[in-house]
Amino acid sequence: MDIEHAMRVGIEAAYAGARVVRDRFGNLSQVHKKGAFDLLTEADTESEKNIITTIRKAFPDHAILAEESGATEGTAQYRWLIDPLDGTTNFAHQLPIFAVSIALAIDTEIILGLVLNPMDGELFSAISGRGAELNGKSIKVSATESVHESLLVTGFPYNFSEIEKPIMRRFTVCQNASQGVRRLGSAALDLCYVACGRFDGFWEQNLNPWDMAAGAVIAAEAAAAVTNFSNKKFCVDHNEILVTNGKIHQEMLELLSLKEKNPS
Ligand code: IPD
Ligand code: CA
Ligand code: CA
Repeated sequence: MDIEHAMRVGIEAAYAGARVVRDRFGNLSQVHKKGAFDLLTEADTESEKNIITTIRKAFPDHAILAEESGATEGTAQYRWLIDPLDGTTNFAHQLPIFAVSIALAIDTEIILGLVLNPMDGELFSAISGRGAELNGKSIKVSATESVHESLLVTGFPYNFSEIEKPIMRRFTVCQNASQGVRRLGSAALDLCYVACGRFDGFWEQNLNPWDMAAGAVIAAEAAAAVTNFSNKKFCVDHNEILVTNGKIHQEMLELLSLKEKNPS
């Protein structure tokens, strides 16, 4: 596999998706509901169609897992993980915080990631083992030493009401311990913003592989620590993720564990 060729195809696919998303911004004819709060617009489906067509043309034997059309088997060991529009709720409300997210994996190991914000043109990219970039320039996580000095970000899943208690406890604990917790509404961008040092840490539970795959490899390649809430190595098929600059990782694990501190 020529990984640079795969990167070029991935970039072409990301722009093919992003073009549709940009054109449809503020210009939607219909918004459907996949669940009570889980929206689907024509931008999601058209972006995904463009991305898949571009990838299929170059790699007809690769498997694909895409949010809207599901899984397609391939004969090769490679699998593309596609979120054609991460941040659909923002998009539907004309809030320009969303992205196209594309990753390539061998089994569960992600070897390439791309996150493109169609509105501001920021393209985050990484090839495993070769570092991460923002619009072609190398990026790295922040050097913030403690949660107390950190700006954090998190997200809430669509089934929030079913697991509201631990989510809100974690949010409160981290909000109290840090300089603030933001909730942007695009997990892919949250991960990339940790990668380039805008945030010091991100956590979320109940994410899907297509939400995390690209952002996780970009963050890891920017020297982030990427685990689950129990400090186990991150796996794209697990549904929780903690990504930090490394320096605050232990402190964040303790905060997320929700263990009461012994009174001293
Ligand atoms: C959602 C976003 C959001 C996160 C949700 C995801 P979607 O993806 O990443 O930030 O909190 O859990 O489902 O539905 O906009 O592609
Ligand atoms: Ca998503
Ligand atoms: Ca999506």
